[in-house]
Amino acid sequence: MAATKTFLTGIQTSGEPHIGNYVGAIKPALAAAESSDTLYFLADYHSLNTVKDPDRLRHNIRSVAATWLACGLDPDRTVIYRQSSVPEVFELSVILSSVTGKGLMNRAHAYKAARDRNAEAGSADLDAGVNMGLFNYPLLMAADILVMETDYVPVGRDQAQHLEYAADIAGSFNHLYGASYSFPIPQGVYNEGDAAVLPGTDGRKMSKSYDNTIPLFLPENRLRKLVRRIPTDSTPVEEPKNPDSSVVFQLLTHFEEPARLAETRKRLEAGGMGWGELKDQLFEAINTEVAPMRVRYERLMEPDSELDGILAAGAVRARERSRRVLAKVRRAVGID
Ligand code: ADP
Ligand code: TRP
Repeated sequence: MAATKTFLTGIQTSGEPHIGNYVGAIKPALAAAESSDTLYFLADYHSLNTVKDPDRLRHNIRSVAATWLACGLDPDRTVIYRQSSVPEVFELSVILSSVTGKGLMNRAHAYKAARDRNAEAGSADLDAGVNMGLFNYPLLMAADILVMETDYVPVGRDQAQHLEYAADIAGSFNHLYGASYSFPIPQGVYNEGDAAVLPGTDGRKMSKSYDNTIPLFLPENRLRKLVRRIPTDSTPVEEPKNPDSSVVFQLLTHFEEPARLAETRKRLEAGGMGWGELKDQLFEAINTEVAPMRVRYERLMEPDSELDGILAAGAVRARERSRRVLAKVRRAVGID
């Protein structure tokens, strides 16, 4: 096993990134990538389960890659690649399926949740609408991780079960074939406690699934309009307001400088500051932070930008690794 520890994480390409993704995932991941051997990949085959429109998927893949690069991912340090460019992932997934119990997959949260929804809806077939992509999702994810001999996987808490499965599956493989080859057992790294959860424009958690997001790289005029449309109560300008009950203020805490934020809080609590003014401040704060990145993003999204070349170079580096690992795995199982 390599002496330096390997960090790997997968990024779904199911939609255009929003400011919740930026604050909760992209910023911390980029900060972590500065000090370790890191691979970040676009989980495009995973997203095929949810995105059935090919043009949409194509767009999302480029958009997600361009976002990470625009936000500061340095492709010379961090290997960035598309899952679909590394066929060893899929080969390993088949090999791992022979050491993975079906019962384990039956207990996976996403699969169980789909069955519960069918039960609630009174459907006779609890597997209605469940495709094999959803069922096999944890297996493919284990292959993503193991094919790079990953030590640590920084992810959200919601992915903890997937990480346990990857470790379990690696253990089963090692138990059988360990005399010839063993995978390092991967570990999840969860950013605890201060993990920010940004509310969406309707007050629920900001999420693509709720259609309540503020997309990260909305053109300036559309960003201003969207922020202006965030619902607020009808407290008159001169009345005192509770900043903590306001989505606008909560979002502001992630973009405004601390001193100015404290001053804004005081003004709201004292009365005399209206929601309109607060929204203008939020727009300015977001826009100031994202404007330089938006310029890079828009350049990368042009059809002939360096984006595709960067992903191709990343795939070459990723495959140097995955080929090496797969050769050992094939030898261990007797298919060489
Ligand atoms: P979505 O809910 O919009 O589909 P994903 O589930 O694809 O977002 O999440 C991608 C990453 O962004 C995850 O690491 C997740 O923890 C983070 N993330 C998503 N929504 C938020 C949010 N509202 N606040 C903070 N982080 C978020
Ligand atoms: N399941 C992860 C998510 O929904 C994405 C993902 C796919 C992943 N493969 C991975 C994360 C491998 C870490 C490692 O966010």
